[in-house]
Amino acid sequence: MSPTAVDLQALRFRWRGAASDCLAIDAFALAPRERVFLQGPSGSGKSTLLALIGGVLTPSTGQVQVAGQALSTLSSAARDRFRADHIGFIFQLFNLLPYLSARDNIMLPCRFSAARRQRLQQAGQTAADEVLRLAEHLDLSPALLGRPASELSVGQQQRVAAARALIGRPGLIVADEPTSALDADRQSAFLDLLLGECAASDAALLFVSHDPRLAQRFDRVLNLADINRAAPSGSGGME
Ligand SMILES: Nc1ncnc2c1ncn2[C@@H]1O[C@H](COP(=O)(O)OP(=O)(O)O)[C@@H](O)[C@H]1O
Ligand SMILES: [Mg+2]
Repeated sequence: MSPTAVDLQALRFRWRGAASDCLAIDAFALAPRERVFLQGPSGSGKSTLLALIGGVLTPSTGQVQVAGQALSTLSSAARDRFRADHIGFIFQLFNLLPYLSARDNIMLPCRFSAARRQRLQQAGQTAADEVLRLAEHLDLSPALLGRPASELSVGQQQRVAAARALIGRPGLIVADEPTSALDADRQSAFLDLLLGECAASDAALLFVSHDPRLAQRFDRVLNLADINRAAPSGSGGME
């Protein structure tokens, strides 16, 4: 049986210099292959939570486990490796390297992660084959793969970012408002592709969005306020 994709226990996090906690979550778990839609107003701590799950931030107290691994027991270098091996991030602004081709952007995690390379090898695939397969599934034409990321449309960049997250089958895909730059039809089409690929690679998905129209396609909808006991800092409104 695969371990819980994400398990949070008695988590508290306060930004340095802040007067109160940003997050206080007694318990939260994401099952293997579960697809969760996480919503909450701007400034409510969604991106902070994703950074804690990715081990980019460390909690003030409490525990974050990903794929059965407690992140607090890892050195910061080991946490970086663990993240590259087990988590695919899709950021709001995609964070592609603009001068690299779409293909090289998608392959990038395989350079940093031996585990991703190994999983491909075990499936009898090369990284180059897998780029082509993902590109086809994500509606990116082969001709596009040679172009620098900076020359792609927003929708194409987003699908390149999704392929980069998915390559080498990490068990967890985390997406931080990846559709906010798209119109409603394109958001929905992108979500179809992403949900399909997560299912095909047995990945759990934690998807942050403020667009409630997308929520019904998920196994579970979670309002951050329902699990976060920390008082909201109040600065942000609804987007
Ligand atoms: N780097 C940072 N340093 C200090 N405070 C931050 C930082 N990033 C975010 N915050 C604060 O943490 C709170 C939650 O922010 P964030 O996680 O970005 O919310 P969301 O993603 O839900 O919009 C906000 O009050 C924000 O001001
Ligand atoms: Mg955010």
